[in-house]
Amino acid sequence: MSTHEAANQALVIAIDGPAAAGKGTLARRLAAALGLPYLDTGLLYRAVGRRVLDLGADPAEPDAAAAAARSLVPEDLARGDLRGPAADAAAASVASIPAVRAALLEFQRGFATASGAVLDGRDIGTVIFPDAKVKLFVTATLPARARRRWAELAGKGTEVPLARVEADMRARDAMDAARLAAPLRPAADAVCLDTTALDPDAVFAQAMAAVRAARP
Ligand code: C5P
Repeated sequence: MSTHEAANQALVIAIDGPAAAGKGTLARRLAAALGLPYLDTGLLYRAVGRRVLDLGADPAEPDAAAAAARSLVPEDLARGDLRGPAADAAAASVASIPAVRAALLEFQRGFATASGAVLDGRDIGTVIFPDAKVKLFVTATLPARARRRWAELAGKGTEVPLARVEADMRARDAMDAARLAAPLRPAADAVCLDTTALDPDAVFAQAMAAVRAARP
């Protein structure tokens, strides 16, 4: 084992927060800088939602969603249709079903077992890795997040009115925060980063400071 690997052993960085707050960008940069694997756990819920839609079933239906979660295979995460309004809504629906969350739990824990990892999602620091050494809660105002998502969609050629993006995001945030199963909230020991007025470099610098503080 190299010195770098030894230092990273069991280093789990849990990043939570609402949609389009900058979690993914930060998580990828931290993973690259620290030589850790990265898991975007939102993809798991998106892939489950897609599987249910493929079957013509309702993503809010617990049995159909749980069966889809149990039969998920890694290739599902590479599908090209996991983004966009339909996938967003289906993911948020299946994510509120406890049996779906239970079915995805071991995969997420197993991902970080060997060498540590950076994971981003909604409940990484509260449920999946409550003992993570580094917990970051990344947030930004709703208008700032909606504008980022809108620009991202426009960049891919998807024209959706900004007001619609903001309304969808508000509804999804409310579902994530209000659900009984693993609601979105910062862990008590999370470092909160508000990215509303920060560029990605500044967010990364603050996150690295938190990593260094946790791992002197
Ligand atoms: O992060 P992303 O927007 O891709 O997540 C899609 C949906 O999956 C979220 O709206 C949320 O409902 C759900 N999710 C979750 N727990 C996670 C990651 C995502 O409930 N750890």
